[in-house]
Amino acid sequence: MTDLHGKVAIVTGAGRGLGRSMASALVAAGAAVTVAARTGTELDAFVDEAKAAGGLGLGVAAHAAYSASKAGVIAFTRSMAVEWARHGIQVNAIAPGYFATPLNSALRADTDALAKVTRAIPARRMGRPQELEPWLLLLAGSASDFMTGEVIVIDGGQSVR
Ligand SMILES: NC(=O)c1ccc[n+]([C@@H]2O[C@H](COP(=O)([O-])OP(=O)(O)OC[C@H]3O[C@@H](n4cnc5c(N)ncnc54)[C@H](OP(=O)(O)O)[C@@H]3O)[C@@H](O)[C@H]2O)c1
Repeated sequence: MTDLHGKVAIVTGAGRGLGRSMASALVAAGAAVTVAARTGTELDAFVDEAKAAGGLGLGVAAHAAYSASKAGVIAFTRSMAVEWARHGIQVNAIAPGYFATPLNSALRADTDALAKVTRAIPARRMGRPQELEPWLLLLAGSASDFMTGEVIVIDGGQSVR
């Protein structure tokens, strides 16, 4: 298992959904995690949970810059990877397909709409947020130190069909 003791992680959007799941995985791996979102109560709940589980957490409610498009994020990932590689810094991205989170709870409650979405996914289901964790930890740990500028797509085959 990836050991992230001594590492610091910053997770925006960590109040719920994918960000929260990723922040939990990073805490469990030993990282000191700073979390950001706009809803302080959700961050406080996360920090309480993380402390109860024996991990470290520091809640910081903040307005993170959160508006870059996916294409922008990918271009940013690649150009920063090239710029920073010589300094021993890797820049990689995870590109999730549909994952069941509060963001799409209304969609999931609508049987017809959900069926339409899952028909377009070869795996015929949405992902579970925990299914991002192994990839997140691989990228956060030293095992991937020679990998940079990559985008890992985790989408049940949606983008390759
Ligand atoms: N779920 C999916 O299927 C899926 C697939 C691909 C990509 N994504 C992307 O992945 C990201 C997370 O998705 P999710 O499903 O986990 O969404 P979610 O369940 O709605 O959670 C979003 C999180 O981001 C925070 N947030 C929103 N605006 C923010 C801002 N301006 N500054 C800081 N924090 C902010 C929210 O808290 P506050 O509202 O309190 O700030 C919340 O903690 C989104 O960008 C989404 O588009 C999601």
